[in-house]
Amino acid sequence: MAMKKIGWVALVLLALWACRQEGDLAADRMCMDRGWYFRLEGASGGAADNGGWKKVDLPHDWSVDKYSQQLNDSVCGVFVRHSPGGLSTGYTLGGTGWYARTFDVPAGELDQLHFLYFEGAYMETDVWVNGQRIGYHPHGYTSFCCEIPARLLVTGKPNTLVVRVTNRGRNSRWYSGSGIYRHVWMMVTDKLHFRNWGSAVVTKAVAPDLAQLQLSTTVCNRYDTVQHAWLTVSVLSPQGKVVATEERTVSVAAGGEREVTVPLTVKEPQLWSTVSPAMYRTVLSVHNNKGQVIGKEAVPFGIRTLAFSASKGFLLNGVPTKLKGGCVHHDNGFLGAAAIDRAEVRKVELLKANGFNAVRCAHNPPSEAFLHACDTLGLLVIDEAFDQWKNPKNPDDYHRFFERYAGGDVAAMVLRDRNHPSVIMWSIGNEIQERADSSGVAIAGYLKNIVRRLDATRPVTAAVNDFWDNPQLSWKNNAQTACDVLDVCGYNYMWYEYENDHRKFPQRIVYGSESAPGETALNWDLMEKHAFLIGDFVWTALDYLGEAGIGHVLNLKEKDKNPQFMEWPWFNAWCGDIDLCGDKKPQSYYRDVVWRRLPVSMCVHPPQEKGLVEKVSYWGWADEYPSWNWAAFLNEVVTVNVYSRAPAVRLYLNGKLVEEKAVGAEKRYTASFRLKYRPGVLKAVNVVNKEEKEEVVLRTTGRPYALKLVADRCLLNASPNELAYVKVMVVDKTGNRVDDSSASLSLHAKGVGSIAGSGNASPTDMESFRSLSPRAYRGQALVIMRPEGVRGEMVLTVCSPGLEPDSIRIHVK
Ligand code: GAL
Repeated sequence: MAMKKIGWVALVLLALWACRQEGDLAADRMCMDRGWYFRLEGASGGAADNGGWKKVDLPHDWSVDKYSQQLNDSVCGVFVRHSPGGLSTGYTLGGTGWYARTFDVPAGELDQLHFLYFEGAYMETDVWVNGQRIGYHPHGYTSFCCEIPARLLVTGKPNTLVVRVTNRGRNSRWYSGSGIYRHVWMMVTDKLHFRNWGSAVVTKAVAPDLAQLQLSTTVCNRYDTVQHAWLTVSVLSPQGKVVATEERTVSVAAGGEREVTVPLTVKEPQLWSTVSPAMYRTVLSVHNNKGQVIGKEAVPFGIRTLAFSASKGFLLNGVPTKLKGGCVHHDNGFLGAAAIDRAEVRKVELLKANGFNAVRCAHNPPSEAFLHACDTLGLLVIDEAFDQWKNPKNPDDYHRFFERYAGGDVAAMVLRDRNHPSVIMWSIGNEIQERADSSGVAIAGYLKNIVRRLDATRPVTAAVNDFWDNPQLSWKNNAQTACDVLDVCGYNYMWYEYENDHRKFPQRIVYGSESAPGETALNWDLMEKHAFLIGDFVWTALDYLGEAGIGHVLNLKEKDKNPQFMEWPWFNAWCGDIDLCGDKKPQSYYRDVVWRRLPVSMCVHPPQEKGLVEKVSYWGWADEYPSWNWAAFLNEVVTVNVYSRAPAVRLYLNGKLVEEKAVGAEKRYTASFRLKYRPGVLKAVNVVNKEEKEEVVLRTTGRPYALKLVADRCLLNASPNELAYVKVMVVDKTGNRVDDSSASLSLHAKGVGSIAGSGNASPTDMESFRSLSPRAYRGQALVIMRPEGVRGEMVLTVCSPGLEPDSIRIHVK
């Protein structure tokens, strides 16, 4: 039906124009990201012309694609006030999008098997090849594979691939993005081949001199005769040396498959940990009876042990480890949901750089690039499958598909991700409504069994919340039902029940699967006190799109109620430790002290508006900044909050002692000073046994004078999977960022790349989001440059009226 509507002939014609970059179908896994045509249903241009079609490359997220937007009262940039998802999805639009491209199959390959592998598309996805539907997948985040039956493929002329992705109605509590937002691959295999996701390497035992591993793999035979194959296995060390080899012969019946397990030993294993993330790699080859290699597969893995108990907590390689965790959603800020590899890696870098050793992927499996970065940079992961089971949270969400697809989706998560050493737990759900009734217990048991069958090495967990969603039930009476089925129990915001519950259930292993930024110290002190508490995950580590303004602060009359969310023009949740540009927010400076990463830090709160009180939302943080630029409040009283674990701190302004204060009298690890603002140098010093120790300084800057561009990397590979993140700062004459400037910027890019995203960190500045003329927010903005895939140079120049412009060159090799 739908295919008819869109005009099959038009699609074929369009697809013929698609540029074919890849060509090399002989490779086992060929990237299919380039050369697509895209059309949003209902957008201008009829099905029979190409008016509505445009060229796109994957990963692609049409919800942040500006081209479909007009500007009027209720539309601003990519935001639309009356979007079905409203504030939940950050006022962005879904709809139905069509993707089309062609691919060639060389004559010699028609007798091979062809599989299309989608890493992620949001949400319901249908796939057609040469007019025949070959696949459907409704989970917006799990990866899936569709086989293209040989009878559909042609050689000598292009084959047409069409994908329809539907993001309809109200289906998400956060920004999901829309379209094929992760990579697509073509896998071409012999009829005798390794099953996709069929190989696993498990650590059986580890001693300093020897690790015992077990490889299992499944060989499938689609010939109509029995096949006798020969399998070789080698293990490569992190330095690339072959450290173990094995060989096996395998016979597989016609049309059958055979699981093979191979014990492996590695001498003097280099253990994977968060500080030393040593990655091994197993290379498997299958040879036919003529000795030819007909299939190859590499399985990266790490050698490490995990142990969980209430008496000892979580042990990584035998070492007690508390999870310093952050929850994150999958979006990439100004790039929307597009999972460009470098953006995924950068998220992991930001988490590590800000003290996190663990991440909870809320509430869905992440991209492969994200997990790969967690492996190679050393970040522990809770991989999560669902935000709802059969009971909906939104009318159009995944509950519609749960009964039929959940088993396959949870299996897809485990099979795809089980070789990642970073993954330490499987989460079967977040705040599931039916968690404490018999239907929920049955579902939990069903999901847990699937997980166990595919991976018995990691515990099964879920995030359990209080019963605000069902007033008939209570934590005291009903939480046990939800927790008993789990190996390790995640508590959302229930820190005040940790000790009570431990008295009742001393064997229960618990972590804070979500906690509020304002309760960081309460939570962390409990973590340090009790072994059964294995970690805490703040909601959230990074700002994300959607759930607009849950981290807001408002100045209200005493009697006024503070809302939970904020409406237009808020579009970002604003509860993260790190903002959309990748910079630290005040709660992150506080966390640094609580986690003992910094001896002292400080933030300044401007004077309170008269007659109003500051109301901080549950996920919010008071309106303070690590800044001593408050010209608008000269001689007015500001509050300086010094964060420290020392017994006392002294505060100096321009060399003169303001006061010495005990830490912790009003708020944990905090000493607050009230003083009149005068420009200059503000210094806080830890005092231990009357002696001055570590210090932190804030300085008033000069006036805005110039722009300064700083890139995270100035040398990139010529690949569209690469990005350069360029920070644009408004600086004074001495080069210090003027953090109260909101100068207007204009961005100009030339060379072998373009601006993939830009904007500032403000949660309400819709105009700046993805704009080429954003304003600075707190003296800065971010520009993300993406190479187009050829060598050369990308040059970014940024100008602002009255300021010296700046340019930066990014070399692409
Ligand atoms: C939790 C939920 C999260 C997020 C958070 C803040 O209850 O699990 O997904 O919605 O609240 O609103």
